Amino acid sequence: MEYTIAPLSPHTAAEVRGVDLRRTIEEATRAHLNRAFIEHSVLAFRDQHLTPHQLLAAVGLFGEIFPQHNSRFALPDCPLVHYISNQDFYPDGRRYIPGEGFHTDHSNAACPPKATILHAVSLPDRGGDTQYVNMHLAYEGLPEETKQRIAGLKAVHVYQSRHSARKLMELSEEGRGRVPDGIVHPIVRTHPESRRKAIYINPIRTEGVVGMPEAEALALLADLLEHATQPKYQYRHQWRPGDLVMWDNRSLLHKANGDYDMNQLRYLYRVMLQGDVPV
Ligand SMILES: [Fe+2]
Repeated sequence: MEYTIAPLSPHTAAEVRGVDLRRTIEEATRAHLNRAFIEHSVLAFRDQHLTPHQLLAAVGLFGEIFPQHNSRFALPDCPLVHYISNQDFYPDGRRYIPGEGFHTDHSNAACPPKATILHAVSLPDRGGDTQYVNMHLAYEGLPEETKQRIAGLKAVHVYQSRHSARKLMELSEEGRGRVPDGIVHPIVRTHPESRRKAIYINPIRTEGVVGMPEAEALALLADLLEHATQPKYQYRHQWRPGDLVMWDNRSLLHKANGDYDMNQLRYLYRVMLQGDVPV
């Protein structure tokens, strides 16, 4: 299989061409793709056309499936694959745009997913980009005194932070019993494979900082977010039909953009991969 891996920006994301994820991938290629994933944090496989079951089989190249928290979005005939759609509504009738606002996925888990994978099924003609923030670069760009201030700090992650601007879709009764809440993670984590440090915060789910008064904690988290989301640390992915995009939740924040014609269907398959305890 002839394939290429080419950077999509100077610091984050690469596109993979010439790999057909429906086919058997050789071990050397699998290892190469995994290394590229760690190096670039986002891999965009172009021109894929996978059914949900083919998607599940393909992502086994990169890890084990992480069972998602809100079963509402599971595909009935392939429940380990979920969907992302712009055709869902809150109970009060407002449209639900999944993933708006910078966040990292499922950080309220003791072992949050290392990766999230989206495969485009239907896209609007324009808009709906996914933005990423490289939290390794953001960490490295902090003033030394801030690095020292946040070293050793831990944040509390819950399903839905009281302080979040975005409201998630409510969990079912069954989901509330199953989904972890009040999990503590370091604010600076070290990537288990690259050993690079990254800021690990999540505006949707971070409730506070352990041992720090609320006002001070919120100010610190806001400052870190403002620093991290500077354009120089960002990569913005413009989706193309057939894209399968996998990103590293240990290294990035991401957000969706609801900036397109909502009469056009935007629909993607979503799976996540098991991660480690952040340290
Ligand atoms: Fe997300």
